[in-house]
Amino acid sequence: MININKNTTAIQHGGNLETAIKKYGFDKDQWIDLSTGISPWSWPVQVSDEDVWRKLPPSNEELIIAAAGYYRIDHNKVIATPGSQMAIRLLPQLFKPSTVAVPALGYQEHAASWQLANHTVLRYQSTSELFDLLKSHQAEHAVVINPNNPSCEILDPKTINNIAAQVPGAMIIDEAFIDFYENSSPTEKDGAMIQSAVKNLTNNMIVLRSIGKFFGLAGLRLGFAIGDHPKVAQLNTLLQPWSISHASMIIGTQALADNVWQQQQHLRIKNQTKAFLPILTALISNELSNLDQKEYEVKSCGLFNTVLIDKSLGPDVLIELHHKLAQQAIWTRLFNPNDDTAWLRFSLPADLHVIEQRLKQNNLSSQESK
Ligand SMILES: Cc1ncc(COP(=O)(O)O)c(C=O)c1O
Repeated sequence: MININKNTTAIQHGGNLETAIKKYGFDKDQWIDLSTGISPWSWPVQVSDEDVWRKLPPSNEELIIAAAGYYRIDHNKVIATPGSQMAIRLLPQLFKPSTVAVPALGYQEHAASWQLANHTVLRYQSTSELFDLLKSHQAEHAVVINPNNPSCEILDPKTINNIAAQVPGAMIIDEAFIDFYENSSPTEKDGAMIQSAVKNLTNNMIVLRSIGKFFGLAGLRLGFAIGDHPKVAQLNTLLQPWSISHASMIIGTQALADNVWQQQQHLRIKNQTKAFLPILTALISNELSNLDQKEYEVKSCGLFNTVLIDKSLGPDVLIELHHKLAQQAIWTRLFNPNDDTAWLRFSLPADLHVIEQRLKQNNLSSQESK
């Protein structure tokens, strides 16, 4: 029986425009929602077959073959999940209560899901802290997020395999945001190689992939768990039958096989990021005129850009920026507002002109009020 720890609280996520509307007003369509990390361009869905809605899904064999082709891995090692979130939530339930090392900064559903399954969660601040936890035999399992959301930190393949070699139990590698890099050549970021762990898979790894982010299909709820680990097969048994909708199967199969669109999407994201970064810098200096460029840093990660501030300034500066933008109906995602590790994340906007226009309007109104 699934053993649920009732003391866990629900986590706030980006995309929560209802919260923005409640607090700041504006109509839903006035808001520019930059609070998620989902691509603003979705794979073009066209479902003409009525059976998709009327009939139960068939076996997901075709979907798995398409996924195995896309991830370049043997199809026997791949299972489909309703979003990678479902794997994040259910996998901890398949292990008897133990200890798990989870990144302190990163997608908080990992820690919450292990806690929900009555494991002891040990939060690490850096890779060296993770190694310390492993060397001192404090952690049985480990979670890494590569690239990390929101810090954009990348772990190179050698480090991933060094960690795996020291994890006595399972190593979960969340690669929800890796697709942008996997589609690029050379696959390098800030001097670090970035490559999916499926290329050097070890028996204790479970790699999680998502169709939500790069393909812009978060609403489809489709993801994959990959690995030789027996818990991957167990998770598949738990999810059978029909946990992947018929529409997800068909759309996912087509999107994963659409190499031409994937290359175009990679270029679109790359070019838009290049065009957005100077706008983001202008936006920051516009809103926070007292802030020096040396006092903040923008970490750019394809589908999102995260602003962090000199720790000595404390979180108030980012709270102010988040608030000022919300007053102009631009919704961003604020992390850790209560301490000096605050971060502000901006997803990639589809329309840069709208943002520039709001910047101009704001410039005018601040000049008028002088
Ligand atoms: C790092 C990370 N992993 C996994 C997920 C879950 O994504 P999905 O369930 O849509 O695959 C998210 C969602 O925001 C995320 O940020």
